[in-house]
Amino acid sequence: MRRHPLVQMLVVGAIASAIGVFVALQIHWFPARASTRAREVDRFYHVLLIVSVPIFVLVVVVVLFSVWKFRMRPGEKFKEGPPIHGNTRLEVVWTAVPAFLIVGLVIGAFVTLEDIESAQPRTMTVDVTARQFAWSFSYPRAHGDPVTSSTLHLPEGRPVEFRVHSADVIHSFWVPAFRAKIDAVPGITTTLRITPSRQGSYPVVCAELCGYGHATMRTTAVVEAPRQFAAWLRGQGRPAPPTAPVGAPSGRQLFTQEGCDACHTLADAGASGTVGPNLDDALKGRSAAFIRQSIVDPNAFVAKGFPPNVMPQTFGRQLSAAQLDALVSYLAKVTR
Ligand code: CUA
Repeated sequence: MRRHPLVQMLVVGAIASAIGVFVALQIHWFPARASTRAREVDRFYHVLLIVSVPIFVLVVVVVLFSVWKFRMRPGEKFKEGPPIHGNTRLEVVWTAVPAFLIVGLVIGAFVTLEDIESAQPRTMTVDVTARQFAWSFSYPRAHGDPVTSSTLHLPEGRPVEFRVHSADVIHSFWVPAFRAKIDAVPGITTTLRITPSRQGSYPVVCAELCGYGHATMRTTAVVEAPRQFAAWLRGQGRPAPPTAPVGAPSGRQLFTQEGCDACHTLADAGASGTVGPNLDDALKGRSAAFIRQSIVDPNAFVAKGFPPNVMPQTFGRQLSAAQLDALVSYLAKVTR
């Protein structure tokens, strides 16, 4: 007995959907879960998969079925299809069903977001600053200057609020293992809350195309036991923030703090970046004046093999006079 084509199509679609959903749920889409919000984010992702796989399958089955069922047969080349005047009931259904689905998913997303972003007691604050092409993290302290670091350290189990800033263009602060991502936008502070829940080291990635060195704009988030974290924080001395020229960091510290090491190789600073010229070669025997010009006005002289406009032209404004002097004399010394 032959079944109605619509029944055949529904049976094929239902089987394909079941297989599709099963396969989609077997795949490990994400890295380790290193924050408390990860479970909720992953669960919501699974809801999205369960809803969207059958829709994808339905569309594909209908398309393939139509191609097969309504294909042109010999002698039909100049035949016109039946005139179609619309079907109100069908149109109401195909408008209403997606509308309900979307509203439902939006509500689900909103509830999840409210929950994972809710304020927690005992929250610590970390300032995240993005610049081309490096991250820096600053831990405010009750007394004295904040501690700054180019790697992110966090105590396990302690809620943290990131205040995210940009010193130049738009970047995006992303720690996949925390299931957390937010843009760093010049001129405003964006915030993001997480609670690290698993010790280990996880990649921190820039997720917004921000220039030639975008792909190298990475660092590490270290989640450690609270005691270890406290010991690390104590051991961080106090590399002063960029606004405090007095008691200032050395040229070598500035080289790292300002992110030069993300793009340049410089043996003395242990830097191995390859976005820009190798400074051990490019600055060899160069005058302090040349080095200063190369920092303040990088396009004045561009090393062979590198396009112009790669190096940010904002360092002249960003560095204080004292910082610039320190950086220039350091570079002149170590590349003599
Ligand atoms: Cu910063 Cu991409």
